[in-house]
Amino acid sequence: MREFILKANKAITSGDVNLKDLPGSCGRLDLVCRCVSSAFFLSHDLRRDTVFYSVHYGNPSPPVALKFMGSELKRVSPDERGIAIFIKKALEKEHLSIWKESTPGIYHAKKEFRDIILERNKEGKKIFYLHKDGKPIEELFNPAQYKKDVVFVLGDHMGIGEEDENFLDEIGAERVSISPLELHANHCIVIVHNIMDKIECLHVSNNIN
Ligand SMILES: C[S@@+](CC[C@H](N)C(=O)[O-])C[C@H]1O[C@@H](n2cnc3c(N)ncnc32)[C@H](O)[C@@H]1O
Repeated sequence: MREFILKANKAITSGDVNLKDLPGSCGRLDLVCRCVSSAFFLSHDLRRDTVFYSVHYGNPSPPVALKFMGSELKRVSPDERGIAIFIKKALEKEHLSIWKESTPGIYHAKKEFRDIILERNKEGKKIFYLHKDGKPIEELFNPAQYKKDVVFVLGDHMGIGEEDENFLDEIGAERVSISPLELHANHCIVIVHNIMDKIECLHVSNNIN
């Protein structure tokens, strides 16, 4: 399973989503939608082995966490507006401390960014923090040491902030870089998928031969 956890610092936390103004009044909800699209959509197919979380810290009542399960998603299309309609439906609901399903494969809860990371960590999953100055990804992942269950944490246009960076250091998350350049969050997801796809293919064919 590949999991991505996005901290969306300004993303809206109510169903008051103006579909004509995702970047402005919705607190860069356009960015969240692009990340969802990059996390799941292949040409004419979906990545069913992926889970994507976005944790919203915008107005009016942060935090609100959304969880998208590739194995369960239905009727969602790759375009930003289409994804935003499903996010709006999830944000309109009442959020409890446990996950509740809004539409197939899309869940919502009143959970903190750190709690979601800690839950994954307690499940024994290795946490990687996507960071420009981290260890090159090629040094951490290769076909011989293939890791199937991986969790990648990333920030939005504002990053994740110093306190959450310290938290990730404390729990032993490893910083991993995919480029010497600062990239958009959704492009990071595409690149990580691409690298992991190639490693998985080599791992599988090496084990067969
Ligand atoms: C647009 S960048 C954030 C820029 C922001 N100014 C900051 O200080 O972090 C969005 C996120 O993508 C990830 N990212 C960007 N470039 C990366 C790179 N070269 N390698 C790994 N992750 C990267 C980081 O998690 C970052 O928080």
